[in-house]
Amino acid sequence: MRTPIIAGNWKMNKNPQETQEFLEAIKGKLPESGVEAIIGAPAIDLNALTWFSKDEPLKTAAENCYFEDAGAFTGETSPKALSDMGLDYVIIGHSERRQYFAETDEDINKKAHAILKNNMLPIICCGETLEQRESGKAEEWVTGQIENAVKGISDDDLAKSVVAYEPIWAIGTGKTATADQAQEMVHVIREKIASLYDADTADKVRILYGGSVKPANVKELMSKEDIDGGLVGGASMDPESFLALANFQK
Ligand code: PGA
Repeated sequence: MRTPIIAGNWKMNKNPQETQEFLEAIKGKLPESGVEAIIGAPAIDLNALTWFSKDEPLKTAAENCYFEDAGAFTGETSPKALSDMGLDYVIIGHSERRQYFAETDEDINKKAHAILKNNMLPIICCGETLEQRESGKAEEWVTGQIENAVKGISDDDLAKSVVAYEPIWAIGTGKTATADQAQEMVHVIREKIASLYDADTADKVRILYGGSVKPANVKELMSKEDIDGGLVGGASMDPESFLALANFQK
């Protein structure tokens, strides 16, 4: 049984004060079991999140990190330091990082290894552009991104990791992939993992859908066989909306 995940991705939003206000608003209201609630936040907000998560059923994610533990890399965030702080996950390969910060598949693979080595888990993002979808190249592109991201990762490590399928045309646009479209690609990703590893590993990896997930569509998406959760941008920033998503089973 794969435990469902609702993971917020705040992107470059909220300062530490706003983070405190958000956390006060959700205190005592997250599901105690049955769902893993995660918030991915900017580095400056992570201290508040990790303190909060000591007493509350919330897991924490950084939105990026570097692949070296320490050194002369001005402006980067160390995966070892994130792990020392108590972070659980790091989001890697988000399309915004690929597009605006020229992150390559090779960087993402190195980051995945660095995160796992530091006892955290990667949330590996993938997804196609509208042009790729319309020209029938989406499956090849997305499975290629996954194959490159997981190179050299053991089956045990991959089984614990998380993949997020986020079609670029559905991110922040209000245009959600239909639940069937999302299920179809998430299934293709699982099959790809089965072919690279084995059926058991593929069965354990949690694969999320992301792209305009909101309280109004989360149930339908979650009803699909292969979809194990959502990576949520816009709708994760308001406490009521995040709580509605995290409590989707109620
Ligand atoms: P969105 O963002 O929910 O605002 O579409 C999703 C994401 O980029 O992870």
